[in-house]
Amino acid sequence: MQLSGKELSFAIRSDLALKCQSFREKTGRLPSLAVVLAGDNPASITYVSAKKKACDEAGMICRDITLPGTVSQEELLATVASLNGDPSVDGILVQLPLPEGLDEQLITRAIDPAKDVDGFCPENVGHLLLGEKTFVPCTPKGIMRLLDEYGIPTWSADVCIVGRSNIVGKPLAALFMQRGRDATVTVCNSRTNDLAGHVRRADIVVAAVGRPGTITADMIKEGATVIDVGINRIPDSTKKSGFRLVGDVDYEGVEPKAGAITPVPGGVGPMTIAMLLENTVEAACMHEGLEFCDL
Ligand code: GUN
Repeated sequence: MQLSGKELSFAIRSDLALKCQSFREKTGRLPSLAVVLAGDNPASITYVSAKKKACDEAGMICRDITLPGTVSQEELLATVASLNGDPSVDGILVQLPLPEGLDEQLITRAIDPAKDVDGFCPENVGHLLLGEKTFVPCTPKGIMRLLDEYGIPTWSADVCIVGRSNIVGKPLAALFMQRGRDATVTVCNSRTNDLAGHVRRADIVVAAVGRPGTITADMIKEGATVIDVGINRIPDSTKKSGFRLVGDVDYEGVEPKAGAITPVPGGVGPMTIAMLLENTVEAACMHEGLEFCDL
């Protein structure tokens, strides 16, 4: 079974478009997201333009703030401070990675937790770990939604997450281990002994390392669910762009053994964007004293 984030995200975004109209009827305004992009990382430019397009299509406001790669820490902090204080902004996203010389930790800490739709600031990370209501980081939230919608249970599952990033691996581990999810979680990193052994035991494998070919067929238990978070550009002279996208999983080899698998592109990526829009509508509801589920 292929887990199509493309299809599911389309349905979620259509529903969010209706919610945005309902929000406007109740408040006289639309939910709004500010996206800050510093520098000219080609992948970041692509992601930010995809996020903007999705906002437009859902009928929400996207304020696009593009800064040069030479922007100073003080200027970037001042930009975030001004967005924090702007009542017409519900959500703030600073695209990562930041250009060299800028302190990601300092910038993500500067975002008002009530506008932190990425769920990256320490206060929201703490709420997530405690199992409290908060903004759940978009990629982990999208992965859980994909599993839920395709009826893949996490209860008592052995989950192996390969990659321990703040954006994916760590928050995803927190979600899987939450009461109600009840998975047993292993988080691997580049120094893990016997990576293949850990992956082979898993009912659900999540690859989030950013290296093509990390997960191969021999590492996969028959019938396991395989979630590929990697989005890697590899040279391809047959493409107009000169590259094509592949995940961290050897899809061709793994697909016949997997019970369910996400494609790249069209798997986790579109879910991340859909969850960003959902978090923004949730933020807007919170700021207006409305319940998301009542929209
Ligand atoms: N870079 C890669 N993924 C993300 C994300 O989900 N949010 C932000 N802000 N930057 C990213």
